[in-house]
Amino acid sequence: MQIQVSNLNKSYFDGEGRKLHILRGLNFEAKSGSTVAIVGASGTGKSTFLHTIGTLESIDEGQLCLDGRDLTNLTRDQAAQFRNEKIGFIFQFHQLLQDFTALENVMIPQLIQGENAEVIQKNALDLLEKVGLSERAGHKPTQLSGGEQQRVAIARALVNRPRVVLADEPTGNLDEETGDQVMEILLRLNLENETTLIMITHNNSLASVMQYQHRMENGKLHLLTND
Ligand SMILES: Nc1ncnc2c1ncn2[C@@H]1O[C@H](COP(=O)(O)OP(=O)(O)O)[C@@H](O)[C@H]1O
Ligand SMILES: [Mg+2]
Repeated sequence: MQIQVSNLNKSYFDGEGRKLHILRGLNFEAKSGSTVAIVGASGTGKSTFLHTIGTLESIDEGQLCLDGRDLTNLTRDQAAQFRNEKIGFIFQFHQLLQDFTALENVMIPQLIQGENAEVIQKNALDLLEKVGLSERAGHKPTQLSGGEQQRVAIARALVNRPRVVLADEPTGNLDEETGDQVMEILLRLNLENETTLIMITHNNSLASVMQYQHRMENGKLHLLTND
């Protein structure tokens, strides 16, 4: 999915009611199927940006288009529907439901869509196999390592065949080797499914394996060139 953002502005209010202008006339574009890294200092608005393009957060001003469709003025319900169908999220802390097995966690987004349970289970098992966890389908998150939990979260993010995957420091909580494995899976799935992958990372070597790198600074994204 192609992403186009123009003149994006987003503010929050702090505890004392002071306005924090986080995103300041930000422009951004990602080609369909591309891989994009977003780097930048902590607190500069990287997560805020990801949440706004994922329609999790409203925007104050500006325009957001995904595949040419203007999402700027969607109602909350329309945004939720769009998100569930088209966007997969992966967070630093996987946010799996602790009382459910790996398989159930992967099935939940599709159950929300109201599809046939047998078909859903088969899809979920296929995805767990793709992330190398077929043997662990019946295990709950506490029975899995951090890297395994993150792989379940990736499978869950992909189960509705999203056109874009938004990942917020998906390897930030993992050791280097496990982080590399998770990264490899994300890149393989990007190639196989032609999903657009936007990933926030603090890790420069992970950022450099993505096709494009942008740095968040002063409320804007700046395209970095590889030279
Ligand atoms: N819901 C919120 N309410 C108020 N301030 C927020 C909220 N979310 C984020 N912020 C503030 O916005 C700034 C940018 O946050 P964030 O997007 O999480 O930065 P990053 O991901 O680059 O570390 C920070 O100063 C943060 O404290
Ligand atoms: Mg963040």
